[in-house]
Amino acid sequence: MGPNTLPPSRSKDAATVPATRFFLIGALLGGLICLTTSAVAHDAAHHDPMAERLEACTACHESQGVELEDGYVPRIHGKPAGYLYNQLVNYQDYRRRNRSMNHMVAHLSHEYLYEIADYFADQHAPYPAPAAAPQPALAERGEQLVREGDEQAGVPACAACHGEHLTGVQPNTPGLIGLPRQYIMAQLGAWQVGTRHAAAPDCMAKITQRLNGRDVEAVAAWLAAQPIPEDTRPVANAVVDPPLECGSVPAPES
Ligand code: HEC
Ligand code: HEC
Repeated sequence: MGPNTLPPSRSKDAATVPATRFFLIGALLGGLICLTTSAVAHDAAHHDPMAERLEACTACHESQGVELEDGYVPRIHGKPAGYLYNQLVNYQDYRRRNRSMNHMVAHLSHEYLYEIADYFADQHAPYPAPAAAPQPALAERGEQLVREGDEQAGVPACAACHGEHLTGVQPNTPGLIGLPRQYIMAQLGAWQVGTRHAAAPDCMAKITQRLNGRDVEAVAAWLAAQPIPEDTRPVANAVVDPPLECGSVPAPES
């Protein structure tokens, strides 16, 4: 958790919390107080209530590249806030199915989900190293789908919506770089079989229905092997004119 994310309550906490804690700790530890006071003061200065409350999330989401029994844990740091919020609501309403996630958000208010989304959108964690390049024919097909699409199959270029550098588009379209192959394949497969839905019209459902098994493998392998661009921030909405309507993405302001 970066120091830039500390809420304004920080200075108040630093001023008031230690006084009470010193008393308790002093009473308990007597002679050890000199050692403990500096530790408590240090602790209070770095006190970030939101980070603490979200430790349940970062237990899974900060360690990157973890394969769990019920799915691959994707990165959530730095993704557009609107996208993250939509996903938390999707898990709550079972438009996305995952045992851990359906359970985690079951009783949280929409307001709090937005706060959580906003918090993670501002966080930056290192990206995992890119995977090895897939074999050339697969890489070629993957790159073609991402950059140009396949007109005959009715598949628009992925980059047309996910941004030229595939870092996502504000406020609701995620980036496609830094995601592991298995995760991408699982998500595209989930749309194909109907265990993942986005708001109607669900453009990703339409697109994945036009991809065959080899196409899914090709885009996932090619994307996972891409180097991480220097600037990983999602780009502004206005630069993208989506080739299909997506219910989860508001029309760009003109
Ligand atoms: C037990 C591990 C675990 C915990 C704890 C957990 N998650 Fe997840 N999370 C996952 C897995 C696995 C997925 C991918 C599931 C899937 O395939 O749909 C996921 C997916 C997500 C996504 C969608 C990411 C994307 O790119 O679409 C968001 C957002 C998210 N989690 C947020 C949270 C938040 C916020 C918390 C804490 C309140 C949390 N998670 C706690 C395992 C976990
Ligand atoms: C018409 C616009 C559009 C096009 C074209 C498009 N996408 Fe998407 N994609 C979206 C939107 C919007 C979302 C977010 C949906 C949601 O809210 O769940 C998304 C989400 C995704 C996700 C989920 C990411 C995550 O972190 O879970 C993957 C993977 C993905 N797209 C892959 C692709 C691939 C591969 C292609 C090209 C074959 C593609 N997309 C083409 C709009 C598009």
